[in-house]
Amino acid sequence: MRIVMIGSGYVGLVSGACFADFGHHVTCVDKSEAKIVALEAGEVPIFEPGLDAIIQQNRSAGRLDFSTNLDPSVGDADVVFIAVGTPSRRGDGHADLSYVYAAAREIAAAVQGFTVVVTKSTVPVGTGDEIERIFREEFPDKDIAVVSNPEFLREGAAITDFKRPDRIVIGTEDGRAIEVMREVYRPLYLNEAPLYFCERRTSELIKYAANAFLAMKITFINEIADLSEKIGADVQKVAKGIGMDKRIGDKFLHAGPGYGGSCFPKDTLALVKTAQDFDSPVRLIETTVAINDNRKRAMGRKVIAACDGDVRGKKIALLGLTFKPNTDDMRDAPSITIVQALLDGGASVHAYDPEGMDAAKAVLGAVTYGKDPYEIAANADAVVIVTEWEEFRALDFTRLKSLMKAPVMVDLRNIYSLSDVVKYGFEYFAVGRKSQKQ
Ligand code: UDX
Repeated sequence: MRIVMIGSGYVGLVSGACFADFGHHVTCVDKSEAKIVALEAGEVPIFEPGLDAIIQQNRSAGRLDFSTNLDPSVGDADVVFIAVGTPSRRGDGHADLSYVYAAAREIAAAVQGFTVVVTKSTVPVGTGDEIERIFREEFPDKDIAVVSNPEFLREGAAITDFKRPDRIVIGTEDGRAIEVMREVYRPLYLNEAPLYFCERRTSELIKYAANAFLAMKITFINEIADLSEKIGADVQKVAKGIGMDKRIGDKFLHAGPGYGGSCFPKDTLALVKTAQDFDSPVRLIETTVAINDNRKRAMGRKVIAACDGDVRGKKIALLGLTFKPNTDDMRDAPSITIVQALLDGGASVHAYDPEGMDAAKAVLGAVTYGKDPYEIAANADAVVIVTEWEEFRALDFTRLKSLMKAPVMVDLRNIYSLSDVVKYGFEYFAVGRKSQKQ
């Protein structure tokens, strides 16, 4: 199969590289000349474990190339994926589809012969219909089927998620398109990954419903965490206890500082807006969004409370800044709000993140960065674990305590337990579990 991927951001690059790895011929297109030049020089602009190697191998094998121009590769393509950004529109929170429609028009102009055009970007219900209308009215001579095929990749685990998916959702009722999509995903079908075919609108909604449900699940356990703290229960044990019920499942029940990233905040908001437009509000998700927003600031207050209610003039050391580990992504990271709350309280904020510091510098205010946890902990009044990077899981507590001014640890990801930490003389504050002041 010849595949063209329009948009070489996170989704486009991972999907394009993995399709090439299946043996298809893939051209990844992006309007950014700088990005394409870098990719051609072997530089991968995002941090994703395993991606560099796949790109390199498939480039050497002649199956993967890059271009700023979708013509002529679209003319030869069997399938063209649209994987451009759909940011939240400023002002109203709706997904901004201008890049999607611009890409669709450019593709249609270049298409020759029957071609399947697939939306991989997360697009609101009805976007496929609108693209089809544009094709029908503006390009009546072109033979194009429009398909929805949402991605469910998690940053940091995207290659595994692509190659071992729980399911592949394909929204189309066009018989020719179904055959082409079967061929595109045949290597996964052989792995017994289920291909789930449904109508296009249903497929578009599946993506939003899946992300909204997961965001709601996290928010649920976060509220149970707050309750656990008040009534003296342990949220991790509650999560385990309810997760053993197969109807609930044990995934996405890890309490923390609130969800962030490029998908959950944007997609929950877009679903809320779409549902309001259809006069069918999704109140659970409206509430989820509001609770999660408040939670990030509340985490700032939690740190301040751990410092006896006052951080003015105190040094706070933050371990981790990205919205989760194994990514350099700072989009909607809880750290942004936590840092602001601490700065507002008069603290001096120092931080270390294994991969996210360059991205953090662009979005955070007056933060001082260090090269490892110990450098930033020197003379600190509290250490706060904000992101659960592997390298924070085996800290040298004796060394840490000897460096700090006050031995206070706030563990917003529950990577330690009280017994791990208090024996070294730390005051320990977790999420939804017992804390201990000395
Ligand atoms: C998510 C979806 O998982 C993926 O299917 C979709 O395509 C894109 O959005 P991603 O944003 O990369 O992926 O990360 P994910 O691992 O889902 O985590 C999202 C956020 O939820 C992070 O901030 C994470 O820290 C938080 N989270 C996740 C929790 O707080 N608790 C959990 O139990 C799980």
